[in-house]
Amino acid sequence: MPLDATPEPPALEVEGLTVRFRKRDEQEVCAVNGVGFSLARGKVMTILGESGSGKSVSLKAVMGLLPGFAKVEGQVRMAGRDILSLPPAELAKLRGSKVSMIFQEPMSAMDPVYTIGDQIAETIIQHEGTDRATAMARAKRLLERVSIPSAARRLKNYPHEMSGGMRQRAMIALALACDPLVLLADEPTTALDVTVQIQILMLLRELQAELGMAVVFVTHDVGVAAEISDQIAVMYAGRFVETGTLRGVMRDPQHPYTRGLLSSTVHGGMRKTLLRTIPGNPPSLAALPEGCHFRPRCAEAVAGCQREPPVVRGETGTMVRCLHAVAAEAAVPA
Ligand SMILES: Nc1ncnc2c1ncn2[C@@H]1O[C@H](COP(=O)(O)OP(=O)(O)OP(=O)(O)O)[C@@H](O)[C@H]1O
Ligand SMILES: [Mg+2]
Repeated sequence: MPLDATPEPPALEVEGLTVRFRKRDEQEVCAVNGVGFSLARGKVMTILGESGSGKSVSLKAVMGLLPGFAKVEGQVRMAGRDILSLPPAELAKLRGSKVSMIFQEPMSAMDPVYTIGDQIAETIIQHEGTDRATAMARAKRLLERVSIPSAARRLKNYPHEMSGGMRQRAMIALALACDPLVLLADEPTTALDVTVQIQILMLLRELQAELGMAVVFVTHDVGVAAEISDQIAVMYAGRFVETGTLRGVMRDPQHPYTRGLLSSTVHGGMRKTLLRTIPGNPPSLAALPEGCHFRPRCAEAVAGCQREPPVVRGETGTMVRCLHAVAAEAAVPA
């Protein structure tokens, strides 16, 4: 690399992302609170967290897909370009081209009255202005790339004519239609049975490496996260409470919530062991506890946890939001 070359900006950078919902006559709730991360091309970051922690709202905010009454703050940069301040028409142009999303239930992203071929070809025509024959030929190649057998015939299928696994593959093909830089995947395998789930995860991993996409993957399943991620972000009540590399977080989780999540996962050899789960339920966003939001469920909570927890940052992008992390850091000999 020449000396004066400026380094490539991250594929996706999110800073201080905050989403508040306020409906008429209701108290305002903060569903996402100061979320930030940076993701390079060719890397997969998984957001791991229980139901209601704000995973889907975070992805929708990045895509600009939240309803008008949602108040979104913070910055989202794609390849260095600030996208939240773009006019809606410009943002719509980016969706499906530079950034695509795949969902848990493919039917929600597909139009039931158009064939798979028409939907993929239409996306290509809309974003690239190619003619129909070229777009259809590309749609066929995309179906082949996601290992759908008899691609030419499948192009003529309607979504409901496919099995769940095939439909999920078709949705991945649709998401890849315009060669996106960033792919957001919201629990794309949870509705599938285990064997199909593994096939889809492997396919995503393969495509992501081949195409050099940055992928944000959302799941509540630690096993799935372990299969697919380079980086992990653990989310609780709207906040990231721990981030790090897959290896770092799995081997040496720092936050008591992360430790709870990992120990409540069934590992191969321990299937019959009674596993410790995290007691209690996540808090209501309308009544968050003071200080550390995890405090009421935390076996390690002390009086100091009633104050806002410190954010301890390490090298290589690791972060822990916990009072105990300060003591742990201080105990490490220099
Ligand atoms: N359109 C909306 N209006 C008001 N509140 C909303 C809206 N969408 C989401 N929320 C609230 O934001 C919080 C986070 O929701 P989100 O869908 O991001 O959770 P999640 O982590 O994706 O959960 P799950 O694992 O169940 O999909 C929830 O409390 C939810 O009720
Ligand atoms: Mg969700």
